[in-house]
Amino acid sequence: MKKIFSAFIPGLAILLLSLQACASLQNLNTLKSPYKLPKLPYAENALEPIIDAETMKIHHTRHHQAYVDNLNKALEKNEKANLQQLLANVSTRSAAIRNNAGGHWNHSFFWTILTPNKEDQKIPKDLEAEIVQTFGSFDAFKAEFEKNGLSQFGSGWAWLIRNAEGKLEVTATPNQDNPLMDVASKRGTPILGIDVWEHAYYLKYQNKRAEYLKNFWEIINWKQVAKYDQEAKKKK
Ligand SMILES: [Fe+2]
Repeated sequence: MKKIFSAFIPGLAILLLSLQACASLQNLNTLKSPYKLPKLPYAENALEPIIDAETMKIHHTRHHQAYVDNLNKALEKNEKANLQQLLANVSTRSAAIRNNAGGHWNHSFFWTILTPNKEDQKIPKDLEAEIVQTFGSFDAFKAEFEKNGLSQFGSGWAWLIRNAEGKLEVTATPNQDNPLMDVASKRGTPILGIDVWEHAYYLKYQNKRAEYLKNFWEIINWKQVAKYDQEAKKKK
């Protein structure tokens, strides 16, 4: 029994990593109702000590699940609009759809741009070079991103996007808005984002959002970010 169990664990890890490798904007954007909570692509404790297991469990199984459930409730019966269409026309929809469609997209995306895998945490050279060219240095980019996360009053998100001109840009959105929404002040395709709602960090960091933002750099799945960026560039 012990043998079967120990053979099962590596297999499960490979399956989870391959699920993560399959993440694409195309898959996320074309999800149709009824929406479902996606599985985490790693164990709840995999990102410790940066994100503790308790926070991850509550964040995923309660907060994200609530966005999924409330989005399904808010939609017209049998409505099959895909997630990106809802976001792109969200100004015409109810506040419940705006908050929960945003919440579902943002969290589904967020899980995939984090990883405990050291290999996936290495940034591809071409993306790194473009970030340096755009922001002056990698540290300047990090500072700009952290500033957006810190200065977002109350709840929201900070993003690295590929904008309509095809350039990299940092922005922030309130609540569960995101740059795919027609209401966003800066529109574009997110390739990296951080959740700065207190529910994402309060158990471990309390009011120290700056420390959470600083630690975030250690668990980014740059391999996945680069994949999203390839898709974002093709949309141009
Ligand atoms: Fe969240």
